[in-house]
Amino acid sequence: MIKSKDLKIAIIGLGYVGLPLALEFAKKKTVIGFDNNEKRIEELNSGIDRNLEFNKELLTNSKNLSFTSDINELETANCYIVTVPTPIDKLKKPDLRPLIKASEMTSKIINKGDLIIYESTVYPGCIEEVCVPILEKNSQLKYNKDFFCGYSPERINPGDKDHTISKIKKITSGSTPEIADLIDDLYNEIITVGTHKAQSIKIAEAAKVIENTQRDLNIALVNELSIIFNKMNIDTNAVLDAAGSKWNFLPFKPGLVGGHCIGVDPYYLTYKAESIGYQPKIILAGRKLNDSMGGHVALQLIKKMEKKNIQIKGAKILIMGLTFKENCADLRNSGIYNVIKELKKSECDLDLQDPWADEEEIKKIYDIFPTPKPNQNIYDAILIGVAHNEFKTLGLQSIKNLCKKTHVIYDLKNLFNSNQVDLKL
Ligand SMILES: NC(=O)c1ccc[n+]([C@@H]2O[C@H](COP(=O)([O-])OP(=O)(O)OC[C@H]3O[C@@H](n4cnc5c(N)ncnc54)[C@H](O)[C@@H]3O)[C@@H](O)[C@H]2O)c1
Repeated sequence: MIKSKDLKIAIIGLGYVGLPLALEFAKKKTVIGFDNNEKRIEELNSGIDRNLEFNKELLTNSKNLSFTSDINELETANCYIVTVPTPIDKLKKPDLRPLIKASEMTSKIINKGDLIIYESTVYPGCIEEVCVPILEKNSQLKYNKDFFCGYSPERINPGDKDHTISKIKKITSGSTPEIADLIDDLYNEIITVGTHKAQSIKIAEAAKVIENTQRDLNIALVNELSIIFNKMNIDTNAVLDAAGSKWNFLPFKPGLVGGHCIGVDPYYLTYKAESIGYQPKIILAGRKLNDSMGGHVALQLIKKMEKKNIQIKGAKILIMGLTFKENCADLRNSGIYNVIKELKKSECDLDLQDPWADEEEIKKIYDIFPTPKPNQNIYDAILIGVAHNEFKTLGLQSIKNLCKKTHVIYDLKNLFNSNQVDLKL
């Protein structure tokens, strides 16, 4: 039986999940990083990570790591780790096309004895029901006889410099007990805080998808509480602080849910539930509520402006922060998108600012070119949508200096005290 130290690793998909994994494994062994986006490979080869997670020095100093978009270069590997996206489509159903494509590609290069580990978030059963048949069909190899699989979901948190990959406990699993041990050994080479070996691939898949479903639902609950308390003129954050003094009250905060995990993964679970004849109720209710929060935020802002006799049509509003979370460059699936969509409907004059996001990408998504240095005394309202460190350092007075005399400041991320701003969730 092969030992984990003899595994030659190829990582397929070098995004927020694949790149840190490749860099971490490259501290221990030779790693080939593959991505079908040639531009991404070109950039990585010149030391550029457009996700702003790693600097040039880290990328170019990693002697054991090479980047390629040529699949022929992967043939020397015997362990393929798949970290491609698993988004949802317009109907909010799993879009498995990248996973299927990556499995088809891998099936053409695997040999007897090889190991294919998936890290992408999926629904329980997906790896063995969707990916394994593709691997078998194209390779003419037999599952669990000629090749083996594993599933080890990723838990990283982009932008978080404390909980980096080696410091997050990782779930591992394998298609046979021996392979589960091998995969567990492999991850223990890089995870310093240890692993949790699940009893099966299906259990590991289910565990990952419920982690984010649980978070989504808890946020939906506090969002609903904030809507109720807002109508009653009760400060939600003060209520949560008071309730949080009880030992078992969970510390969730209201907010916009975005990104490709929390707002997406529950749909993988509900899709699977529906396919086996169960119509989920609570999970979808939470999703619906969280998806409606953008509209709620925009309405709250407009109502407050009206109360201060600010003309809505043409009102100059600055949106500070556009990415789906703080200190991260990722604009995809950002919760702020729906807020902006609603404010545009009211014909407000919007300026957008984000020190992390790519300017061209902002323009592409919102049809508005960003304003990196907003002028003073010109805004009727400012919405602080993302808690980037830059906004924290700026401080409230500098933000107020950008506003006209009569203005509204909406602190969506609870950066300042309630009595210092006009609105919070
Ligand atoms: N981003 C996160 O915080 C996070 C955390 C935990 C789990 N996940 C899960 O991990 C998976 C990957 O997410 P991500 O954020 O890294 O995605 P990403 O979009 O940042 O990166 C995916 C990379 O895969 C590449 N790719 C797509 N199809 C490919 C193919 N067929 N062959 C080779 N490369 C291909 C893309 O070009 C891209 O560079 C998803 O299932 C996601 O749900 C993400």
